[in-house]
Amino acid sequence: MRMTQFAQRFCKKTGILELMDDLGQAMAGSTEMRMLGGGNPAHIPEINQLWRARTQEILNNGQELEETLANYDTPRGKESFLEAMAELLNQKFGWNLTGKNIAITNGSQTAFFLLLNLFSGHDTKGQLNRVMFPLCPEYIGYADQAVEEGALATRPAKINLTRPGFFKYGVDFDNLEISDDIGALCVSRPTNPTGNVLTDQEVHKLSALAASKDIPFIIDNAYGAPFPNILFREATPFWDHHVILSMSLSKLGLPSVRTGILVGSEEIIDAVSACNAVLSLSNGSLGQTLVHPLVKNGDLLRISDEIIRPFYAERAKTAIESMQDAFSTDIPYRLHECEGALFLWLWLPELPISSFELYQRLKKRNVLVVSGHYFFYGLEEDWDHSKQCLRLSYAQDPQDFRDAAFIMADEIRKIMDQNP
Ligand SMILES: Cc1ncc(COP(=O)(O)O)c(C=O)c1O
Repeated sequence: MRMTQFAQRFCKKTGILELMDDLGQAMAGSTEMRMLGGGNPAHIPEINQLWRARTQEILNNGQELEETLANYDTPRGKESFLEAMAELLNQKFGWNLTGKNIAITNGSQTAFFLLLNLFSGHDTKGQLNRVMFPLCPEYIGYADQAVEEGALATRPAKINLTRPGFFKYGVDFDNLEISDDIGALCVSRPTNPTGNVLTDQEVHKLSALAASKDIPFIIDNAYGAPFPNILFREATPFWDHHVILSMSLSKLGLPSVRTGILVGSEEIIDAVSACNAVLSLSNGSLGQTLVHPLVKNGDLLRISDEIIRPFYAERAKTAIESMQDAFSTDIPYRLHECEGALFLWLWLPELPISSFELYQRLKKRNVLVVSGHYFFYGLEEDWDHSKQCLRLSYAQDPQDFRDAAFIMADEIRKIMDQNP
């Protein structure tokens, strides 16, 4: 078989492939694995009940099932859904959107494949443009998405020690030069993997930097406001004409309907919609149909505020307590301030082995985590910190998390004893 450079880039064993393989096997329940890897949202009973009732309603409602299953949408999505989404965001945040500012993608993962390749790679003048992620560590899912090699750049975060046992990353503006080959800035907010939420000040500064260079500022809002709103600190949602805001239905508890929602200028949305037509004709409608009435009557925001956010806030609190109980005072560790998303980010500054080796040892003990090194791509220099972190999802069963925390602590103590 003679394959291409494209095949070499996209068929190799990437971090995201390993992560999704681990996740699929663990969620299929085929092992005893304690699942702290992957980004699967929790199964929240009230939310699952809502999707069940809504599915029943679709079945009973005249032609709604046939209209959902038996028609292609436009490459932008379902017009009525796009209008309703624009209306919801305008009402909630005072933005001035129309349906033409919104496009649906096959999950937000696909949205990023399109965006990162619209703004990185060779331009018509032959210059290699790059997308800049100003705060590294950043979401593993972007790392291998650029078609062209060397098209993503990142800058190491500044580490701020906030209180005993905790820290928070910040954008190192002193070392953030936006050279002329940077085609866009991109951040996830809340950040996967760390649970960081960029401050309003950081967001305004990045936005101004992007505007001054006439490039887009992409904000990945997969966990943010107004839905699913897995946010535990004050953070003002942000949009402007040069901003591309990415949202998703996945973390509402609907990862399998693969529905991403992009908000941007009409020019951007037209570009994404043209790509959708070439790649997929149109995207699946089921997610849009399921949540459409909840977008119209505002229930999407109510369930996010009243059910989803408190659910994860409670899980985060008990997960932190479990870590503190298990690690006590003899293991040097810090947790990133848990400000949103589904993860604790554990920093082991004196770990004598790499985080990947620790991941492998923990997997043998039926604890699945994600090695932090995957999230440090695109750096210009080696950084020890990149081998000292683990991402721990707290979305699944709290008792499993607690057991896993004690196994992790036990394994780390053994490693420290073997390497005094
Ligand atoms: C920050 C972030 N962006 C995008 C995605 C992609 O999500 P989806 O394609 O399910 O919308 C994820 C998934 O975990 C994520 O964590």
